[in-house]
Amino acid sequence: MADAPRVLVLHGPNLNLLGTREPSIYGTATLDDIHAELGVLAKARDAELEFFQSNHEGALVDRIQEAPSWADAILINPGGLTHTSVVLRDALAATGLPVVEVHLSNVDEREEWRRLSVLEDVRAHRIVGKGADGYREALEFLQKGAA
Ligand code: DQA
Repeated sequence: MADAPRVLVLHGPNLNLLGTREPSIYGTATLDDIHAELGVLAKARDAELEFFQSNHEGALVDRIQEAPSWADAILINPGGLTHTSVVLRDALAATGLPVVEVHLSNVDEREEWRRLSVLEDVRAHRIVGKGADGYREALEFLQKGAA
């Protein structure tokens, strides 16, 4: 990993609603709050971040395909696509970049079907159930030199 890594931070469907979406599960921090916090951390640690959220699988795939021209790593919360999207998994695999998967909620202790992640074999690390702090931890993991 580069000394000043460039990290593409991706969010899947419905994560634009953070702050008001089922706050008892996902917390009250908005996506802007999370980005602001990550921005401060990145500045202090000499990392560069780009953020992208989409409710559209194809838009996420397009963004992932562009990632290798700029990014050293990908931090992603794929939302519900985690459990279903082979195309997202394949796009991430094709980048060859280290990937950290983050979930605000503890998907391992919710519905059975949320325990499946199609990203299992392409991610370097996975953080669940730590709310917005999970993103911070993911960035720290990448900076320590994942994969
Ligand atoms: C989520 C968990 C997913 O199961 C869900 O569909 C989401 C959010 C999380 O951050 O806990 O949209 O990825």
